[in-house]
Amino acid sequence: GFISESDRVKLSLPTGESVEILLHGATVISWVVGGQEKLFLSEKAALDRSKPVRGGIPLVFPVFGKSTEGPTAALPQHGFARLCKWELLGRTSETDTSIQVDFGLGPENLSADLREQWPYVFGLIYSVNLSKSSLETKMLVRNEGSKTFDFNVLFHTYLRVPDVNNLTIEGLKGTSYKCKVTKSEAVEEAAELPVDSEVDRVYANVPGTVQVKNGGEAIFKVDRTNLEDVVVWNPWKGASKMADFGPEDGYKNMICIEAGAVSKWHTLEPESVWEGSTIINL
Ligand code: BG6
Repeated sequence: GFISESDRVKLSLPTGESVEILLHGATVISWVVGGQEKLFLSEKAALDRSKPVRGGIPLVFPVFGKSTEGPTAALPQHGFARLCKWELLGRTSETDTSIQVDFGLGPENLSADLREQWPYVFGLIYSVNLSKSSLETKMLVRNEGSKTFDFNVLFHTYLRVPDVNNLTIEGLKGTSYKCKVTKSEAVEEAAELPVDSEVDRVYANVPGTVQVKNGGEAIFKVDRTNLEDVVVWNPWKGASKMADFGPEDGYKNMICIEAGAVSKWHTLEPESVWEGSTIINL
């Protein structure tokens, strides 16, 4: 099924799986399978377009984090994709086992300030595809102008987990990462990485599937196409300093596994197209 409301779209399958996406940031805010919510959404998240949504799947484009120099230096942290109202392009496919909806964003959807801060002519098409036991998100970036631009893109996915203390993350061993907590760089040694304190790491060029396990059992398997990097983030007790994070101990029920292209810039020449996607399998 497909329901379009003034500020959101809801997709569902005859077998009960569903997904809900706000036009604000084209942010997926809910993914339900077997009656269970699979994404974490802060109970204090602003859903009124006043700020990016704290939870679900905010979109990061054209910069990851905050640049201090270069063409994205004037943009807010994580860019503008999660701040703007996207256009609903419609449902592009529907069967009994999968349904897809597409959203579009271009300079015409940006405020005058943002257009000035990043003066490129671009077109984004964001697709969300719900299947019985997976959720796929895909971004297509097109340079529709005459100037080459550089970009980062990332799906800032907040996965809901039963208890962060029982988690291990697998698939990162041997990968180089930058740790934003200790401001250091290292190569991951853990085959089974526990999450027992604040974590904010950018793993570059992750070779394969990243699995989130709860007590040794895989609960999410994240695969990527053209998205070479994976960010692992949990604010831990620092969550209490975020005005839009709740409940205060909600960090125990989430882990961000963010598939992206962020460790280096991707360059897009005029009239070129780039596409990247990630699929979360249960
Ligand atoms: C992560 C970054 O992807 O996003 C963190 O690596 C950052 O450094 C986090 O704190 C949340 O960012 P924001 O802008 O949504 O508070």
